[in-house]
Amino acid sequence: MTTVAEGAVALVDDERDWNPSTKAGWFAMADTPARSRPRSATTGELKAMAPGERFVYDHARAAWHANIGPIRTPGIDALFETLDEVVGANRQDGEKVKAAVVLDALPGLGKTTAALSFGQAFHRTQIELYGAQVPATGGYWQRIPVVYLGLTSNTTMRSLNAMLCRFYGLPGADRGNADWLANRAAECVANCKTRLVIVDDVHFLDVNRRDGREVANHFKWLANTFPVTFFFVGVGLRARGLLDEGLCGADAAFSQTARRWSVASLDPFEIATKTGRATWRQLLLGIERELVLANAYRGMIARDLADYLFARSSGHFASLMSLLARGCYRSVKTGIETLSVELLDAVRIDQAAETAREHLHASLAAGLLPAGTDRTRREGAA
Ligand SMILES: Nc1ncnc2c1ncn2[C@@H]1O[C@H](COP(=O)(O)OP(=O)(O)OP(=O)(O)O)[C@@H](O)[C@H]1O
Ligand SMILES: [Mg+2]
Repeated sequence: MTTVAEGAVALVDDERDWNPSTKAGWFAMADTPARSRPRSATTGELKAMAPGERFVYDHARAAWHANIGPIRTPGIDALFETLDEVVGANRQDGEKVKAAVVLDALPGLGKTTAALSFGQAFHRTQIELYGAQVPATGGYWQRIPVVYLGLTSNTTMRSLNAMLCRFYGLPGADRGNADWLANRAAECVANCKTRLVIVDDVHFLDVNRRDGREVANHFKWLANTFPVTFFFVGVGLRARGLLDEGLCGADAAFSQTARRWSVASLDPFEIATKTGRATWRQLLLGIERELVLANAYRGMIARDLADYLFARSSGHFASLMSLLARGCYRSVKTGIETLSVELLDAVRIDQAAETAREHLHASLAAGLLPAGTDRTRREGAA
C-alpha cells in the first residue's frame, strides 16, 4: 500500500459522496462547481515529483478519471431538447393537464447521469431567474425547483410520500399515514415552487399490484394539481405496462393524461453504420482529450483502441467508462502512463460486458462488423 511521505502535502478528500435524493445532497451537487482537470505532467516531471506530491497527483488523477463527463452525445442532446420543450411549455394554469416525459432505455446507458445533468441545469436556471427564496406571508420558503427520487422495490403510497417529505427535509417523514404525508409533500411542492420531479428507477413499480397503481395515480394527481413536470426514468417501462396503463395511461380520473407524454430513449452506441461510427469516434475523441496520462498521444483511444473498446463495452456508457477509469488507474500504478490492448486486457469489468465481449471480438475479427481504423484489427490482435 502506498503511504504519504513525511512532509507531504495533506490529501484533500474531494470525494463527492452526496445523495441527490435529499434536498441537502441535491443542492450540494447542483452548487458545487465541476471538477477541474489535473494538469498534464511529462514522464520527466513525474519522476522529479517528491513521493508525497506524486501521491496527491495520482490521487487527483484517479478521481478525475472516475468522473469524466457528463459527455454530451447526439442521444443526450435529443433527450435534453425534448425535456426542455416539455418543461418549458408546461406552464398551463392549475386546472389543466400537464405533460410528462419518460426515458425508457436499457441498463447502463447513462439515463441517471443525463437526468441529473438536466435537473442540475434546470435547478440553476430557475434560481438564477427567480431567486433562491419564495416570498410568503411572514417569511419565505426556500426555492426547490427540482426533486429527485430513486424508487426502490416495494415502493408504496406511504413510502413514496415519506420519500418526498424526506427530500424536503421535513421532520417526522417516517411517521404519519400515507394521506398525512401526501398532504405535507404536496404543500412543499407548492410552497417551494417545485417545477420538475425526476423519478428514477421507475421499473420498481408494479402496476399489477394495488400499491404500484396507487403510486402511479399519486404522480398523476401531483402533476395535475401543481405545475410540476414529471420525468420518469427506468428500464423496460413499456414492456412492464408502465407506459400504457401505469404512469401515463388513461384511466377514469386522468383520461387526458395519455395524450400528454413524450417517450424518449437512449440507444447503445453502435459501429454498424457510418453515423454510428462517427458518433463513437467523436465520443472517444472527447474522452481522449480528458485523460491525464504522461505517455498519452493523439489517437491513443479514438484511433488505436476504437474497435477494441467497442467490443469490450458493447457500446454501453457504463462499461466503457469503468473500463477506462480502471485502465487509467492501472496505467498510473504500473508507470506505463498510456492505454493499450495489453493493459486493458488485464482489466475486468461488469459481467454483462465481459460476456458480450467474446461475441463482439469474434465478429470484429471475422470482419462481420464494418472495418474501423483500430490498430487491434490491423494487427489481428483481437
Ligand atoms: N454522458 C456521460 N458522460 C460520461 N460518462 C457517462 C455518461 N453517461 C453515463 N456515464 C458513465 O456510465 C455510468 C453509468 O451511467 P448511469 O448510472 O447514468 O446509467 P443508467 O442508464 O442510469 O444505468 P442503470 O440502468 O443501471 O440505472 C456512469 O457512472 C458514468 O461513469
Ligand atoms: Mg440509473
